[in-house]
Amino acid sequence: MKIHVCSREQAAETAAERYVELLKRKPNAVLGFATGSTPLSLYRELIKRYQRGELSFRQATSFNLDEYVGLDSSDPQSYRSFMNKNLFEQIDIPLERTFVPSGTNCSAESAAEYDAKIQAAGGIDLQLLGVGRNGHIGFNEPGTSFDSLTHRVQLSRSTREANARFFHSIEEVPSEAVSMGIKTVMNARSILLFAQGEEKAEVIQKAVYGPVTEDVPASILQLHPFVELYLDPEAAKLL
Ligand code: F6R
Repeated sequence: MKIHVCSREQAAETAAERYVELLKRKPNAVLGFATGSTPLSLYRELIKRYQRGELSFRQATSFNLDEYVGLDSSDPQSYRSFMNKNLFEQIDIPLERTFVPSGTNCSAESAAEYDAKIQAAGGIDLQLLGVGRNGHIGFNEPGTSFDSLTHRVQLSRSTREANARFFHSIEEVPSEAVSMGIKTVMNARSILLFAQGEEKAEVIQKAVYGPVTEDVPASILQLHPFVELYLDPEAAKLL
């Protein structure tokens, strides 16, 4: 694991370089994206660089980590809407090559198709991750098998509480999601994980130094050959 401790802005700038390098070397790269608060500074930086002509996503394909069950792609709270608004509509990636798990067709077949599509695209070159306070990556909550592929998941109370800030109340936060599995994530050729704020410090310490255990899904990243962590000083304070 390579660990960068720096400001949010510096993290966005350094990580954006990874995208510039990758897309220069491989214009049709496959990118794994995340939602939530953490990636927003990176997305703003990618948009800025696209506007300056420093990178193009014209030939790229993307796969998002997860989607809430029950939310149609047109729902403003869906992760599809989040990605369209915060990234896709502001860069040149063709929308038809951006994939987000379906929140309305959540059958096992549809989940398997998502993994098959990733494979058919050649696998994910660069996967972006945030981390939940309980160690989830994607929406793989503690206890999820390290062998999991894309699947339907039950969200924990703490995850729903953490995400209630995007809704009017916790009752509105869906209780289930469809998420890439841990194996799907680990199959990515390289991974960038961002974490910011003191509330992530404990889980970052466990993920980096703790035992590799399904109780802390992010701990599996210790076994991946190309992982970079971008932490602000608060998230890194227990390292
Ligand atoms: C988002 C995702 C989640 C978030 C995590 C952190 O697609 O899969 O694992 O990355 O819940 O969320 P924030 O960034 O809002 O703290």
